[in-house]
Order: sequence, then structure tokens, then C-alpha cells
Amino acid sequence: GLAIARDVAALRGQVAGWRRAGETVGLVPTMGALHEGHLTLVRRAKERCDRAVATIFVNPKQFDRKEDLESYPRSEAEDVRLLESVGCDLLFAPLDVAVIYPPGFVTRVSVAGLSACLDGLHRPGHFDGVTTVVSKLLLQALPDVAFFGEKDFQQQTIVRRMARDLDIPVEIAAVPTVREADGLAMSSRNRLLTPEQRALAPLLARVLNETAEAIAVDPTAEAAPFIAQARLRLGRGGFDKIDYVELRAADDLGELASLERPGRLLAAAWLGRTRLIDNVAVG
Ligand code: PAJ
Repeated sequence: GLAIARDVAALRGQVAGWRRAGETVGLVPTMGALHEGHLTLVRRAKERCDRAVATIFVNPKQFDRKEDLESYPRSEAEDVRLLESVGCDLLFAPLDVAVIYPPGFVTRVSVAGLSACLDGLHRPGHFDGVTTVVSKLLLQALPDVAFFGEKDFQQQTIVRRMARDLDIPVEIAAVPTVREADGLAMSSRNRLLTPEQRALAPLLARVLNETAEAIAVDPTAEAAPFIAQARLRLGRGGFDKIDYVELRAADDLGELASLERPGRLLAAAWLGRTRLIDNVAVG
């Protein structure tokens, strides 16, 4: 059965018991409104570890828009049912923000450079919010492995760098993006799309895939014209605003003018008031 911990002491108590018994623990941090992408992370945790712990905390520090925080979908009862269905052992779901950020909390964990580009450029403070909460969750649960989706490729890169820099003794494991049948990357925010927007949304994945293929044909060719073409296609296809389409190095997100090293093509674009992100491997 699925146990639920509402505070850090209950979380630590459960995990400590398992570790004393020699069991390994996998952690899956989430903000809830769970879908098949999240559940795939939990399944991976159960395959790799004896116990799977999921966390649900809508972290106010990582929202750069008040409206986004207020409209963020919440569905704990359904989330609990879904976690039970995949054999999750423990859910850590604080009922109050003060469980994570008690009065007087002032510390910030920040990964310089990596947090300032791509999504960080368009969402000021977002990644500092992510690294602050993820460092806390890792230290609270002290799992063997923590699982992150490639859907949020920059986040996964930043969290790995943070764990290394701070000597947090947790392996950071990446899980490939889970998609709808039409290619749209699963996201809690997809349920905010109108039917018309939902019909346009898969263009983002299609354009990224076709652009990645075109760039990979000739690794010495400049990527810029392909990226300009991709932006045009997204705009013509109904996206209201394109924050970025960029080719970056797959390992450290360094800038790449052409495919000198294995690449990642990343994009963020808006349909109305909903911002979608996606990324694919290149080469
Ligand atoms: P959230 O958006 O709920 O995502 C939780 C985890 O699920 C992240 O590691 C994310 O990359 C992964 N995920 C989401 N959609 C996915 C998909 N379609 N395929 C594979 N994995 C997917 O990311 C966050 O929450 C927060 O920033 C968090 C790390 C919990 C810190 O607050």
C-alpha cells in the first residue's frame, strides 16, 4: 500500500527504516497533476530500487508568474490512486508550504551559468527555485537514486551539476520523454489547453524532430538557417510567441553553431497563455 508522509520527520522515518533493512530507495520529485510521464519515472524507480518514493509539492519559489502558480492543476486524490497503481511505496506531500519553507527561510541554491540561459532567460529565478527545492528534497529523503525526465532537459542537466557540486550522494537518473500518440510531450500544463490549442500543440515536437534530422545530415553545416526555418514554421502553425529554439551541446548545454558534438535541440513556445517546452536529441 501507499503510505503518505505529511512532514519531513515522517518521510525520514520511513526511508531510514528501509535503509536499515538494506533496501535501496528511488526518489521521484513532482508537482502533482500526475500523468503517464510521471508514472514512468515511478516505474523506473521501482525497477532500479527496492522502494519508490514520490513527492508532490507545488513549489512557489520556481513560479515566475503568479497566474501560472494559481492556475497550476492540483488533483491529489487522483494522484494517490495513480501512484498506488504503479506500486509506489511512499508519497511525501506537505499540506502547507511552511513544511518546506518555514518562517525565516532565506537560503537559496543557485547553479550559475546553466540557470541563466534558455528557460532561465525567460523565467527569471525559476531554476534557483528548482535547485533550492530539489536540494532540500534530496537531503530530506536521502535516496540512492533520484529520477528526472528529459522533458525538462535543462532542469535535469542543472540538477545533476548541483548534486555533483554539493557532493550530494545521490545518483541523478534521466528518463526519456513520454509522449502522446500524436507526439506532444506529456505535461501537467497540457490540460490547460483549449481543444483548438491542443490540436496545434503537436507541431512543436514535429518541427523539433524534422529540424534535428535536417541538422544531423551535415554536422559541419551552420545550424542557424535550420533554426530560423523552425521558428517560421511554429509561427505560421499557430504558436503565439516563440521564446527560443536553440541547438546546444547535449552534455553541458554549451552553445553549438554546428553539430561538432552530440547536440540537443530545445524550444519553448506559447499557445495563448500556456507555455510549452520540448527538446530532442540531435545526431
Ligand atoms: P513536474 O513538472 O511535476 O515534473 C516532475 C518530473 O516528471 C520531472 O523530472 C519531469 O521532467 C518529469 N516529467 C514531466 N513530464 C514528463 C514526460 N512527458 N516524460 C518524462 N518525464 C516527464 O519538474 C518538476 O515537476 C519540478 O520542477 C520539480 C523537479 C518537482 C521541482 O519542483
